[in-house]
Amino acid sequence: MNYIIENATLVNEGSTSLASVFVKDGVIEKINPTDCRDVANYNVIDATGLLLLPGVIDDHVHFREPGLTHKADIASESRAAVAGGVTSFMEMPNTNPPTLTQQLLQDKYDLAAEKSCANYSFYMGVSNNNMDEVLKTDPRRVCGIKVFMGSSTGNMLVEDGGTLSTLFKEAPCLVAAHCEDDATIKEMRDERLEMKDERGIGAWLHPVIRSAEACYKSSSKAVELAVKYGGRLHVMHVTTEKELSLFRNDISLRDKKITAEACLNHLWFSDKDYDRLGNMIKVNPAIKSEKDRLALLNALVDNRIDVIGTDHAPHTLEEKMSPYATAPSGAPSIQHVLPCMLELANQGLLSITKVVELMSHNPATLFNIRRRGFIREGYYADLVLVDPHKPQTISNSGILSKCGWTPYDGTGLHSSVTHTFVNGELVYHNGKVIDGVRGMRLEFERV
Ligand code: DOR
Ligand code: ZN
Repeated sequence: MNYIIENATLVNEGSTSLASVFVKDGVIEKINPTDCRDVANYNVIDATGLLLLPGVIDDHVHFREPGLTHKADIASESRAAVAGGVTSFMEMPNTNPPTLTQQLLQDKYDLAAEKSCANYSFYMGVSNNNMDEVLKTDPRRVCGIKVFMGSSTGNMLVEDGGTLSTLFKEAPCLVAAHCEDDATIKEMRDERLEMKDERGIGAWLHPVIRSAEACYKSSSKAVELAVKYGGRLHVMHVTTEKELSLFRNDISLRDKKITAEACLNHLWFSDKDYDRLGNMIKVNPAIKSEKDRLALLNALVDNRIDVIGTDHAPHTLEEKMSPYATAPSGAPSIQHVLPCMLELANQGLLSITKVVELMSHNPATLFNIRRRGFIREGYYADLVLVDPHKPQTISNSGILSKCGWTPYDGTGLHSSVTHTFVNGELVYHNGKVIDGVRGMRLEFERV
């Protein structure tokens, strides 16, 4: 199907303008054509009053397939993604089995080709003894290599100094790192879980145990190694003000060898939400103070943080209902990521053009994604229409993720995604996923 998206408010590449966009054969054919066109072969969408944005590229999701499909799977979570304006995702290796061989990585691509309604890429995983496999990763067809320099869901901690130095010296593409120092966390956990605090043991302890110090210790070590060995490092889910000193904003994104991501949960919630939400916002790294949250938002504006991801990490409600110490870390968020970020823009914390830069343009630039992330003629037509005046209240009952709950339940938002197009195909429209659309494997323009 070909489309004319007419009279939209186009938000793209730093500016906002009224535009009509022609979509043909999966790509953006023309923006504001001046010549006469035969419109008979196009389906016209009147986008008066709607924002037209490039589809969101989420560099950080956990879709749980294979092996953990009681929590989520590629089909269910990609449907939630397109509902949230996400047209491309990059998925993490802490599945079961973990993605530690090229064959297991290929198996995920095969699954996604069959099941994903959004475009996809999968990170290769690192353990203490799979470097030969890691180094075979194809930089033109795989988004990056994920290393857990801090233990989290799945047993993928890499602490071996030799492995880390080889990784930063020889990785054929970007290394994405989860940074939390394990020894610091363990020490604090032992101490705090034994203390008889009057608040009792609960999720409020999470940022005390998984502390700002643990984050800084690990992320500064990652930066040090990347600098020493000339590696290309992307620090995932930065959560503290202190870590921001590790990142630069005096050079362009294209020239950075060290980049940073912030995730929606850490931009939205702060430690004052633990009493209300408990384990529902138990995530790693922990959600920290309001001061940290505001510092992260500032760093989005001043370019020390380069991209926004979701860290969409579903667990079942039953799993999350266990006591604090045993409940798994992680929470779903992908289905509302774009309207939530637009809500922060609405609150005056950043501009809408900046939201688009951080969620679409910059992930495309940072990962060198081929022909996506911008509304440009000849690019794939990954597009989102948002009605800025269509309010919604997020509810567990509307959750498309298999887990069926969200920590954002009850949250009121001013805007809603009305249409999502993946490669020129309408895949989501007014609350409904249109089944049958399949995404493509992302490609990377890397030498
Ligand atoms: O909270 C988290 N959940 N952090 C991670 O690093 C992993 C993720 C998961 O897979 O559940
Ligand atoms: Zn994650």
